[in-house]
Amino acid sequence: MSESIKHKIEELSKKIEEHNYRYYVEAQPVISDYEFDKLLEELIRLEKEHPEYIKPDSPSQRVGGQITKEFKAVKHKYPMLSLGNTYSEEELSDFDERVKKVIGTDYEYVCELKYDGVAIGLTYKYGMLVQAVTRGDGEKGDDVTTNAKTIKSIPLKLRGHDYPEEFEIRGEIFMPRKVFDEINKEREEIAEPLLANPRNAAAGTLKMQDSAIVAKRNLDCFLYAMYAEHLPYKNHFDSIKAAKKWGFKTSEFMEKSSDIHEVFNYINKWDTARNNLKFDIDGVVIKVNSYEQQRNLGFTAKSPRWAIAYKFKAQRVSTLLESISYQVGRTGSITPVANLKPVLLAGTTVKRASLHNADIIEKLDVRIGDTVFVEKGGEIIPKIVGVDKTKRHEHSHKEHFITHCPECGVKLIRIEDEANHYCPNESGCPPQVKGKMEHFVGRRAMDIDSLGSETIAQLYDTGLIKNSADIYELKKDDLLKLERMAEKSVNNLLAGIEASKKIPFERVLYAVGIRHIGETTAKKLAYYFKNIDSIKNANLEQLLEVGDIGETTAKSITDYFAESKNSVLIEKLRQHGVQLELSQEQLVNASDKLKGLSFVVSGVFSKFSRDDLKKTIEQNGGKSVGSISGKTSYVIAGENMGPEKLKKAEKLGIPILTEDEFIKMIEN
Ligand code: IVH
Repeated sequence: MSESIKHKIEELSKKIEEHNYRYYVEAQPVISDYEFDKLLEELIRLEKEHPEYIKPDSPSQRVGGQITKEFKAVKHKYPMLSLGNTYSEEELSDFDERVKKVIGTDYEYVCELKYDGVAIGLTYKYGMLVQAVTRGDGEKGDDVTTNAKTIKSIPLKLRGHDYPEEFEIRGEIFMPRKVFDEINKEREEIAEPLLANPRNAAAGTLKMQDSAIVAKRNLDCFLYAMYAEHLPYKNHFDSIKAAKKWGFKTSEFMEKSSDIHEVFNYINKWDTARNNLKFDIDGVVIKVNSYEQQRNLGFTAKSPRWAIAYKFKAQRVSTLLESISYQVGRTGSITPVANLKPVLLAGTTVKRASLHNADIIEKLDVRIGDTVFVEKGGEIIPKIVGVDKTKRHEHSHKEHFITHCPECGVKLIRIEDEANHYCPNESGCPPQVKGKMEHFVGRRAMDIDSLGSETIAQLYDTGLIKNSADIYELKKDDLLKLERMAEKSVNNLLAGIEASKKIPFERVLYAVGIRHIGETTAKKLAYYFKNIDSIKNANLEQLLEVGDIGETTAKSITDYFAESKNSVLIEKLRQHGVQLELSQEQLVNASDKLKGLSFVVSGVFSKFSRDDLKKTIEQNGGKSVGSISGKTSYVIAGENMGPEKLKKAEKLGIPILTEDEFIKMIEN
């Protein structure tokens, strides 16, 4: 019996990894996402029932869930050097001359894209991924293996057989632009500061403690260099081709060049073509292909003499700043936008550029009528980086940031320590009201998909809805009178609204749009307090009892409920039958047995994943925290619990529970 389950787990793992490879490496999936999810669910279920068969290369590892409190420093076996940089073709010709001096004229170059992300070294032993380490200072890096395993294009186990027994492969972890845009869109909705660019986003993600979040962020990885005691190939190009065969996603668009002129052609091609890529590059890397010639050329203290990076200049143009307008976002934040005389930049016509906030305007001292420099760097939205003061008009005057909302006229506020100005008129300022409703009906919130932003604007502009609760008061007759609203779409809309009344409480809590409350926090709050009234009545101290809720979030919750119009909105939702408490089914799995207790979870468990254990603590009213302090009630210790933690718990006299003791605690 158990042998056959073991076999089933192995077969499923193999199948899932094959589909993973087809989807993430080859970009040619053969099954639907739904079918894929079903396979993975089945594997996770089997592994939960038989944790003894979980292997370190199981595709279930890619879902994450393990927490890394501190990333271990690891010494690199091969120092992780950087590359010499140049921005000029002249210097590149000098590089070519230096190469020729050492190895003569019989050589070839390999040109590759220079990915703009975070360098990573992956070590494989007998075809299995054993370690992933960041660059760090080049000597030592951070062990981020748990997080790297969630990146679907990084093979946990290699294909074929002819790879070296032990080797390291290096590459770049990056965040595709689309993922970056999506994350920022979500952050904007809950009024979190936006991530600056995909590179920072990738670096930040890779160092997150919770690998489950890393898994959701869809990082990707290109590999571009092999290291081993005995490499089976004589040159870089063949090594990378082989790596591709073993299942790696390798340097895309790699090309051989027989001389420096071909290199220039490659550079020129990609200086424009880069705008069409799905990820960011900041230049081109040129490498001498033959390993023997690489050895002859050797290294300087910092970088190899056989390779160089040609960096693209940030694409920059100058144009006239015609006017500055101020946009009000859905959270009320005000963004100054420069309206420019249209100009061609990085393949697109730019008419507008963000000026970010009042500080930036002040620092740049930009004035209407100025000739400004506009750049497109790592950021997606072009930005103004300077003013050509030689062209400034005598009578220009300093830009004064607006004091009142351009949409509703209310006086703006600026929260201490924040760069942005806000319009505080949350319930009366049109873009904010419409934005709130768009968030409310969103897919991850109330999921009323027949209510798009255009329809919301239409309903708002005609006075049919003024807030999210009004959506439930829409009448068929009123809707039929609207433009572009036929019987069928009206029925559809009303059915969608009706169905949303079944959306579980935690999503409703997310939907109402309390600042700083994202999906995860909403879930935690819902399970801790069980219904909206308890959340409303909770004071700051009680809110801080919930895991991961800090001062800012707690304050934002009390502020929300202190506003009477919000209470009115909640009451209206209640009257319409929207879920404002956990369902019976959710309650069965929840209790408040652990209320007031805080737990530290450490080590590996056999009946729970660490994430599930934390969820169970929260569902039963407890708080799960990261580090042991005098306030910790219990430590739940699994296998391989860190010795430091054990020592600390003992020193502070904190009781240590086994997994089974914990289960008894909630069963009683
Ligand atoms: S080869 C000995 N190839 O650029 C150097 N590096 O500025 C081996 N990078 O640290 C690196 N794309 O993080 C190489 N196709 C590529 C690359 C690349 C991006 C990064 C890498 C390196 C940095 C140097």
